[in-house]
Amino acid sequence: MAAVGVFPVAGRGLHLALKPGKKPASIEGVTGAGSLGAHGAAHGVLYGCAVDVRALANDAAYAKLIREQCRILVAENAMKWGPLRPAVDKFNFDEADALVAFAEENKMKLRGHNLAWHRDNPRWIDATVTAANARQILTTHIETVAGRYAGRMHSWDVVNEAIEIKDGRADGMRNTVWLRLAGDDYLELAFRTARDADPQALLTYNDYGIEGETPEAEQKRQAVLGMLRRMVARRVPVDAVGVQAHLSALAVPASGTGPAYGDGMMRFIAAARELGLQVFITEMDVNDKASPANVAFRDAAVEATYKRFLDLVLADPAVRAVLTWGITDRYTWLDRESARSDGQPERPLPFDADYHAAPAFYAMRDAFDRRKA
Ligand code: XIL
Repeated sequence: MAAVGVFPVAGRGLHLALKPGKKPASIEGVTGAGSLGAHGAAHGVLYGCAVDVRALANDAAYAKLIREQCRILVAENAMKWGPLRPAVDKFNFDEADALVAFAEENKMKLRGHNLAWHRDNPRWIDATVTAANARQILTTHIETVAGRYAGRMHSWDVVNEAIEIKDGRADGMRNTVWLRLAGDDYLELAFRTARDADPQALLTYNDYGIEGETPEAEQKRQAVLGMLRRMVARRVPVDAVGVQAHLSALAVPASGTGPAYGDGMMRFIAAARELGLQVFITEMDVNDKASPANVAFRDAAVEATYKRFLDLVLADPAVRAVLTWGITDRYTWLDRESARSDGQPERPLPFDADYHAAPAFYAMRDAFDRRKA
C-alpha cells in the first residue's frame, strides 16, 4: 500500500492529500485523443508550449512529445532580437525558420515572441540606437521579422513587459531603450507597423506579474489596462493580451502563505474582454522554489496551482489559448535562471525530466475538460 501523506498548508486551511503514483481520472493514455492538445481543442483552448529549437533538432523524444501534445508553438528564444539580429543590418533566421518549418509540417499554429522587449537584446543596441535612429531600427525590425512570416502566424507578442511600476512613472511605463529613444508612443508605432507587416496575426501585448492577489499585482494590472485602454481609444491595432503566468506553487508551508489567484485576475480578464481583446495564457509554469525537497509534496503543490489557476481563468470565454513555457522539466529555464537553493531540479511543467506525464499534466487536462467551450 502506498502511503498517503497529508500536509497542512499554513494560513490557507488547505490540505494536500498526496497519493504517490496517482493514476489519471480517465483510462485513456496521454497521447492522441488523450493529449493536452486534443482535450484543449474539445473545449475551446489552444494548447501548446515554448520550444527550445536546439533541443528540437537534437532530442528526438522531445520532438515526439511536442508533436503528440501541441497545437501551437512559440520559440523560447529564437525569435527574440538577440538571436535574430546579430548586427543592426544583419538578420539570422536559421533557428526561427526551423521552428516555423516544424510547426507547419505538423500542422500546428505559431506564436511569435517578440518584437520589442527590454531584455535579450543584442549587445550592439546600446551603442547603436539613438534618438535619431530608434524609430527606424524598430520599424525595420518589425517589418523584416513579422513580414517574413506574414500570414503564417496565429499571433505575435508585439511588445513584451512594457509596464514596471518601480520605474516610477505615473503611467507605469517601464523605462526601456525604446521608451527613452523611440518615444512614449513606441507601442503605438510597434503595433501599427506589425499590423501593416502581417495583417492576419493577432497582435498581442504580453506581461507578467499580473496574476496574483497582491497589491503589487493589482497595481500592475491597472497600469496594463490603462495602457490598453489608451491604445484602444487611439485605434491602435491590438487584438489580445498575454498573461505569462509564471506562477509560484501555492502550498508553501515554509513561508506560511503562498500567493493566491482569484478575483483580481478575473476582473482583469473581464476588462480585457470588454475592450474587445482575446486573452492568452502565454508562458505558464509553476516554480516550486519555496517548497520542501520532497518530490511528491512538490508535485502536489504544483498540481494544485495548475488546477486553481486554470479553473479560474478558463471560466472566462475570452481565454482562448494556454501555452506552457516548455513542456518537460528537463529543459526548464527556471533551473537556469531561478534555481532552488538546495540544487534540486524544479518540477514546473506537465512532463517530468524523463518525459512522463506529471500530476500537472492531469491537472491541466482535467481543467480543460471542465471548461465549457
Ligand atoms: C526566457 C527564456 O526561457 C530563457 O531561456 C532566456 O534566457 C531568457 O528568457 N518572460 C518572457 C520570456 O517573456 O521570453 C522569458 O524567456 C521568460 C520570462
